[in-house]
Amino acid sequence: MVETIRYGVVGTGMMGVEHIRNILIQPGATITAIADPVETSLGWARAALGEKADGVAAYADAAALVKGGDVDAVIVASPNFTHRAVLEPLLDSDVAILCEKPLCTTVEDAWWVVDRAEGRAAPFWTGMEYRYMPPAAAFISQIHGGRIGRLQMLLIREHRFPFLEKVGNWNRFAANTGGTMVEKCCHFFDLMRLIVQAEPVRVYCSGAMDVNHLDERYDGRAPDIIDNSFTTVDFANGVRAMLDLCMFADGAEHQEEMSATGDKARLDVLIPPGDLVFSPRVGFLKDKAVERAHVPVDPVAMAAGSHYGATYYQHEAFARAVRGEGGVEVTALDGLRAVAIGQAAEISAREKRVVEMAELGL
Ligand SMILES: NC(=O)c1ccc[n+]([C@@H]2O[C@H](COP(=O)([O-])OP(=O)(O)OC[C@H]3O[C@@H](n4cnc5c(N)ncnc54)[C@H](O)[C@@H]3O)[C@@H](O)[C@H]2O)c1
Repeated sequence: MVETIRYGVVGTGMMGVEHIRNILIQPGATITAIADPVETSLGWARAALGEKADGVAAYADAAALVKGGDVDAVIVASPNFTHRAVLEPLLDSDVAILCEKPLCTTVEDAWWVVDRAEGRAAPFWTGMEYRYMPPAAAFISQIHGGRIGRLQMLLIREHRFPFLEKVGNWNRFAANTGGTMVEKCCHFFDLMRLIVQAEPVRVYCSGAMDVNHLDERYDGRAPDIIDNSFTTVDFANGVRAMLDLCMFADGAEHQEEMSATGDKARLDVLIPPGDLVFSPRVGFLKDKAVERAHVPVDPVAMAAGSHYGATYYQHEAFARAVRGEGGVEVTALDGLRAVAIGQAAEISAREKRVVEMAELGL
């Protein structure tokens, strides 16, 4: 049991800084250490820490940070391909860990983490923060509460801007990210598993890089990441799910949309603005009885990141687990299973065929 949680943040680029901003507004939380091999990124962290930067130890890597010994919990926000190596010294220690998605770039590496994370006394948490966007959380809870009857179909759509530039342009290559279906879409595959409450059986993905990054070259190499795709996922309980991803739809009104249709009704969530739309079945030619509701987000949480308040609420739940006041809500195995659906989708898009999850040993 700890009163004030002392945090370390490994990788202080865009997402590491979002974690810092959100930790700073949590009660009973202090940042004592940061680690990043790039001095500019450490500067971003210090700028986010402001006057609280004094006395925060800075390291070049996770091993040195954990050896420093002044942390209770470590947030891993380094590039996807570094997660396994970054996690190794952390898993050997007794710190609580929150590792950003995707857990790893391959199912094989993710199993390595799962095996090491299981049996540790300190919590290991995979950062799947879309679960914690308040409108998404309300949507999930209403489905699980039976509002639409028996769930049969789930559609998730993300229509957004292209991948941002990253430190060293690591996100332009599938070898570094796991591929778009792992890197970006693991969030949505995690939501599917959570909402459907079953495991996937097979995946078909049609996708390619058709619009973005076509003229970019890095050391003469062209990016190889999907920028649009349709993916269908069959679940073991008979529910069908679909992901519609477009990364050249900057102007779309809603960046994320989810529609769940059951035998009694359909429920949509639209983010932004964070509205739920409930459409009960009424029968042919009868008047429709659509109900709309807005799900508010604390403006402080909303302002502390670019994920609709999710980072703040995820940190609240992680802190409860670190204090022993709550369980781990997103385990290493959850992280692995989301990576696995993404990897199946990557294989499916490349080989233009249906991929059974059994092929990946799941
Ligand atoms: N949850 C979300 O919605 C969300 C959003 C964005 C990014 N992410 C994840 O966060 C992670 C970081 O992404 P980002 O957008 O901040 O990238 P970024 O390039 O902005 O930052 C990554 C930082 O990690 C540093 N780094 C590289 N190798 C390292 C190592 N071995 N040890 C420590 N630091 C190292 C880089 O110098 C850089 O400062 C990725 O895993 C990404 O998928 C999650």
